[in-house]
Amino acid sequence: MNPFISGLKDKVILVTGGASGIGLATARVLAASGARVVCADLQQSQDLPQGCEFRRLDVSSEKLTQELVASMLDRYGQIDGLVTSAGISRVGDLESMALQEWEQVLQVNLTGTMLSARAVASHMKQRRQGSIVAIASINGMLGNPSNLAYCTSKGAVIQMVRSLAAELGPCGVRVNSISPGYIHTPMTIMLDEQPVGQAFEAMHLLKRAGKSQEVGNAVAFLLSDMSSFITGVNLPVDGGFSAAKVIAI
Ligand SMILES: NC(=O)c1ccc[n+]([C@@H]2O[C@H](COP(=O)([O-])OP(=O)(O)OC[C@H]3O[C@@H](n4cnc5c(N)ncnc54)[C@H](O)[C@@H]3O)[C@@H](O)[C@H]2O)c1
Repeated sequence: MNPFISGLKDKVILVTGGASGIGLATARVLAASGARVVCADLQQSQDLPQGCEFRRLDVSSEKLTQELVASMLDRYGQIDGLVTSAGISRVGDLESMALQEWEQVLQVNLTGTMLSARAVASHMKQRRQGSIVAIASINGMLGNPSNLAYCTSKGAVIQMVRSLAAELGPCGVRVNSISPGYIHTPMTIMLDEQPVGQAFEAMHLLKRAGKSQEVGNAVAFLLSDMSSFITGVNLPVDGGFSAAKVIAI
């Protein structure tokens, strides 16, 4: 059962990566709260909730992102919120990682986030309102020896959000990031039910992985007027993972 987040009714929100995992769960929370949601993704989702519209998008293309935002403005007349959940992960350390994979991860996770923000910014500035929520990661807050490109991209997203908050705050636009802990989604399929996944879960103070909807709830809060004086923060939604160093047992 989705909670109702007040103040989202009729808001128009673009969710990149909205066809799967955290993006899709976020779209469900937003739609259940009365928002009009556009889920933009490379792949079509089988079960988009009512109130959500699918649009195909590669977030690494500036042209396609600008075109999508223009067509949303034609159709809805406004964009109140942006959630950047499109992301990819490629396992690899400094020596084993292919340069092409490094570039691909940065292109989608970092440049894609920037391009989405850039596409909505002038409209939001003109209206002197808007909320942007970037999905970063605990892997952008802490080092991790085997996922160099991903960690780097997410750390950069957290820093970009602070800079965008500084740039857009005077124009009434809020920008925040959320750093999820381990959330069971198609992205984590190789960890789920494996000893390494169980050890990872045990490092969360709540001793479990999170649910996509728990991230979606936090995103909805940051999009809503309930967070109207919050900008420039990185909110961990990680069951306490980043709060304490615990030995996994
Ligand atoms: N699952 C976790 O444990 C976890 C933890 C921290 C952060 N995150 C972040 O949350 C976000 C969502 O991940 P998820 O776990 O829901 O994974 P997911 O794979 O279920 O969803 C990611 C979505 O992004 C889309 N996507 C990938 N490249 C794209 C592109 N170029 N253009 C448009 N869409 C594209 C995919 O098609 C997919 O639908 C990602 O940014 C991820 O890094 C996930």
